Amino acid sequence: MIRSTKIVACNWKAFLGVARSVVVARAVSGWCKRTRYTGEVIVAPSFAALHPVSLELDDSGIRLAAQNVSSDSDGPYTGAISLAVLKELGCAHAILGHSEVRAGRGLACPESDGLIAKKFGACLSNGIGPILCIGETLDDRRRGKTARVLSAQLSAGTSAMDGGLSGSVRVYVAYEPVWAISSNAPKERPVPETINDVIGDLRELLAQLRGSKAASRVRFLYGGSVDASNVASYVSMDSIDGVLVGGASTDPKKLVGMLTAVRSL
Ligand code: PGA
Repeated sequence: MIRSTKIVACNWKAFLGVARSVVVARAVSGWCKRTRYTGEVIVAPSFAALHPVSLELDDSGIRLAAQNVSSDSDGPYTGAISLAVLKELGCAHAILGHSEVRAGRGLACPESDGLIAKKFGACLSNGIGPILCIGETLDDRRRGKTARVLSAQLSAGTSAMDGGLSGSVRVYVAYEPVWAISSNAPKERPVPETINDVIGDLRELLAQLRGSKAASRVRFLYGGSVDASNVASYVSMDSIDGVLVGGASTDPKKLVGMLTAVRSL
């Protein structure tokens, strides 16, 4: 029996249109209600699907997340999605600093550590729980720079936690080795024990940086090619509080398969 509730956070990226997002949300929400699933589930559809998906999550316990957010509040920012809008739509979380965002994939420009840190602070002030993604590229790994990259991203990203964490906002850090993400065609899958050790080190670092009280409220996720066949091997590790899943979470059968595997631990 696992000790604490494990989290399954789903990042649907731009894989699903609005209608398909609703279909997946309806299926997983129905399953959670029928089975009285008590684990934590978060879904992050595209911005356009946030409202229709939110209507499907009623009473299911599933929380809604955005895949990004603007660092500025309401005002003259054409095309921006503000935190006020996310709150109005019922979002509990926003994913920040995903490696695709850091690389500028599908965006006008890449997002820097500074911008991600600003968004993290804005989320905290607005009661939206940030899910900060950090991770090394294959090149970083080959050059032996993994620890340095992770520490720099964690330190910059969480700088707004300097004065501690107020209120009940839930903060997550998702460790996602970029080379392990399914769409990057990984040649190998990270060993759960290794991920557990890395996350253990990140927890210690966060406690040194932001104090043990604030750090103890942060939950750590692993992301990278997680599916129903391997999710248990990750979430059964002590230091891993849950997973952030991309591709496999966009298929209702695979998603329910993952939740079933987590529930039977
Ligand atoms: P994946 O994506 O599960 O498809 O590897 C994870 C992510 O990018 O968050």
